[in-house]
This record gives sequence, structure tokens and C-alpha cells, in this order.
Amino acid sequence: MSRRIKIFDTTLRDGEQAPGCSMNLKEKLEVARRLEKLKVDVIEAGFAISSPGDFESVKAVAEKVKDCTVASLARCATADIDAAYEALKSAADPRIHVFLATSPVHMQYKLRMSPEQVLETIEKMVKYARSKCSNIEFSAEDAMRSEPEFLARAVDTAIRSGASVINIPDTVGYATPAEMRAMLEYLHEKVPNADTVEFSVHCHNDLGMATANSLAGVMGGAGQIECTINGLGERAGNAPLEEIVMAINTRRELYDAETRIDTTKIYKASRLVYNIIGRTAPINKPIVGTNAFAHEAGIHQHGILANRSTYEIMTPESIGIKANQMVLGKHSGRHAFETRLIELGFELSPSELESCFLEFKKLCDKKKEISDSDLEALARNRQPDEVEGYSLERFSVQSGNVSTATAVIVLRKGEELLEEVSLGDGPIDAAYKAIDKIITPPEHSLENYSIHSISEGKDSLGEVVVMLKMTDRLFSGKGLSTDIIEASILAYINAVNKIMRQIN
Ligand code: KIV
Ligand code: ZN
Repeated sequence: MSRRIKIFDTTLRDGEQAPGCSMNLKEKLEVARRLEKLKVDVIEAGFAISSPGDFESVKAVAEKVKDCTVASLARCATADIDAAYEALKSAADPRIHVFLATSPVHMQYKLRMSPEQVLETIEKMVKYARSKCSNIEFSAEDAMRSEPEFLARAVDTAIRSGASVINIPDTVGYATPAEMRAMLEYLHEKVPNADTVEFSVHCHNDLGMATANSLAGVMGGAGQIECTINGLGERAGNAPLEEIVMAINTRRELYDAETRIDTTKIYKASRLVYNIIGRTAPINKPIVGTNAFAHEAGIHQHGILANRSTYEIMTPESIGIKANQMVLGKHSGRHAFETRLIELGFELSPSELESCFLEFKKLCDKKKEISDSDLEALARNRQPDEVEGYSLERFSVQSGNVSTATAVIVLRKGEELLEEVSLGDGPIDAAYKAIDKIITPPEHSLENYSIHSISEGKDSLGEVVVMLKMTDRLFSGKGLSTDIIEASILAYINAVNKIMRQIN
């Protein structure tokens, strides 16, 4: 019988801590529920002590999710472990994930601890965590740049102190697949009682090896892989869940392994996470990119028509992409609209559905055929039940190559309407300056502005994503309209509202 590899998803912790990927509580819960449906084994919901927001989201995920283990990260410190346990205690299966670095460079320069002090701390803190919770994971941070003999001592100490999962992270994405496999095999051979615990791998993608290294870890005996949806994560990101799962699925005999993931839910989960962080998949991204299953070259099309397996090692259906989807238009009713949104993975409240349906009807007046991409864009840009902060009431912009651009903006805040006018270096700059005059947000800079069309055609919806930087934090905002100036204004207001929520 093949081995069951556990999937530990850290989108809400390692993924979410990447710049520009932060999510609010509602969004984190939406992702957690989707991960549960996907059937991941463990959801790392956050780093409870790092902020009150993280504490609340770990607690909320622990309360709501019952079919997965829920974990919180904690440094080797009693306050961290206490916070993790406090946030997790209502979970069906709580796990405290403690970590401490074991590489020479981290011990010397970051921890300023001797190797012996590191071992003592591991023993003390893993025992402390175990006194609170029976499910303890220990991670040896920067394991792949640690001296193997010392790493084996650290792992042995963690096992003797009560850890039942031992994670071997390649924190800086430095390892090669051969090294990863050899390290796992070495630890299994050298550490007494290694066979009584689960080994895990956690690979970063700095050299593009995260997937290969994770799978090499499985070959070396790891029974758990840590990964994120779409490979979200700091720098080049973490190992992408969709690649790991589909690699194991497609090459089941080679790995002699399987996961419990429902692969038909992968595509929706990927879209949800991209939607929340306001990004889209690079078109050639494995598994979830637009071109991942596209066969344009004539010779490939010929082969595919003769037999799909000529050029297709997995089917789009296996990750939940449906063929021949129905296109909606102005004659489509509320029921067809709602049914399609549910198929696309959206669960809207009645009032959200109502406002979204009105937007859909408005769009039908401008576009003949409404594609799935249009629907997804409408649903993810929906008005939340309660509009917090400022919303756009109306605007007027004048610009040209013979006059200075001028914008008049009217925003609503509760019952109040606020109006300002500004000149600017182009219509968008003028509009943003007028908005700043109304809201007066703290000093910030526009780090990124991008616009893309949601579907084909001149009447396509345009989606604008802006990234604002205030001190060292990034705030993203999205706006959607067939009018790109309006989409730009909406995106800016969305990001500024987030800044204002942060400071208030
Ligand atoms: O990359 C890393 O080492 C980590 C650990 C905290 C598991 O994220
Ligand atoms: Zn990491």
C-alpha cells in the first residue's frame, strides 16, 4: 500500500507574511474553509503572538475548522507558546509549532546562542509546549545549512522532549534535491527513535527548487510536506501546494505515495487566493496558469485530438477546470447567476448577492457575453455587507494633451458627501490628489499600479491593482470597471481605506 503524505498548508502564516499578501480576518476564514474542503491535513493559521490580528485569526480558524489539524507558529519562548495554545485551544486537533534555528550563521548572528544553549532551549521549550498540548511540531530553522551532526542532536533532543513532528526547513531555498533526500536519510539513520515521529519538509523557492526539494524529502522518508497555495511566501515563496499534490498524483507509482487532497478543488482554491491578494497567476505557471493546459501549436493539437495523453499528463478536469462552460448574458436570470457563482466557489450573503446581481445587469448593458472571469471579478470586487470607510459617489475627470488634467471627486462616508477638486499630472494623478485632499491619509507612496483586462474584447472589464507603501507596510487595493479611470479611482480608495483602518 502506498504511503499517505500529509499536506501542511501554511498559506495563512508563511504565505500571508509576504509583503502585499496580507489578508483580513474574513478573508483568512474564507481561505481556511476552502483549505478544509480541499482536505489539507494541517492548516497553519498564523503566528499567534505576532499581532492581535494573528491571534484572532488563529482563534477563529481553530473554532471554525474541524476536519483539519490547526497549528500556530511559536518561537521557543513561553510567551509565544502560551499565546499559541490560548488561540488554539478550541481546535479539534490543535498543534503548537515551535521553531529554533540550528545553522551556525543563525545561532551566532541572530540568536547569539552557543550550540549547547540551543539544545537546552529546545529541550525546555518543547517540554513546555508538550505540557500544554499533545501535538507538537519542532522546526529546526535553516536546517539545510546546519551541520548534519548537530542537526541530528537537535532533532533527537526535540523527540526526547515530546515533539511528534520534526520539520526540516530549507529556510533560504539553498538546498538541492540530492542534499534534501540525503539529509532526511541521514536523520532517519542517526537519530534514535526517528521512526516514532513524522518527518516533514518545508522548502523555500529561492533557486526554483522548492517543489523538487519537497519531493526529494518524500523520497528520503518525509511524511509531511509544508506548502502554500500558489507558492505564496516571502521572497520567491514556498513550495506550491498545487505542484506538490499534482506531482504526487501524476507519478503515484514513482513516489509510492498519495495525499488526501481533493484535486478537483485545486483550481478554485488557487483563484480564491489570487483574488484575495489582488494578483493573477503568471500565464505559464504550472497547474494553475492560463496556459497550463493550452495547446496552441498545430502538432500538439493534432496529437491531443488523436489521444489526449500524447501531450497531456493530467487533465484540466482533474484540478477542477470545467470544459464548455455556459456563458451568461442579459437574459440570464438571478438563479443562473447564483448557480454559476456557487460553481465558481463563491458563497455570498443575500445582500452581497443582490448588489453583485445589480452590477452584473449593468455590465450586461455594456457587454454581450459575460465570461467566468467577468463573474469572478464582479464577485471578488463585491461590496461587503457593511461598507467601511470611504466609497466613490461620483467623479468627473478632464484631460488631454493641451490642458492640465483636472479631477472632481465626490466620496461618501456614512451619510456625508465630501467633494474636492485637484489638478494633476494626468487624469489618474489628478483623481488621486483629490482623494488625498478628502481623506488626508498619512504619508505614503504608490509602489505599484497595474491594469489588466478581465476578458477579451474592447468592452472588457478593466481591473486595476495598486500597491501603496506606508512606512514599511504595503497595502493593496483593487478596482473594477469598464472605465479604466473609474477602476483606478476605486482601487486607490480601496487601498487608502485599508491604511485608514490600520491607523485608527
Ligand atoms: O522557513 C522557515 O524556516 C520557517 C520555519 C519557521 C518553519 O518558516
Ligand atoms: Zn518558511
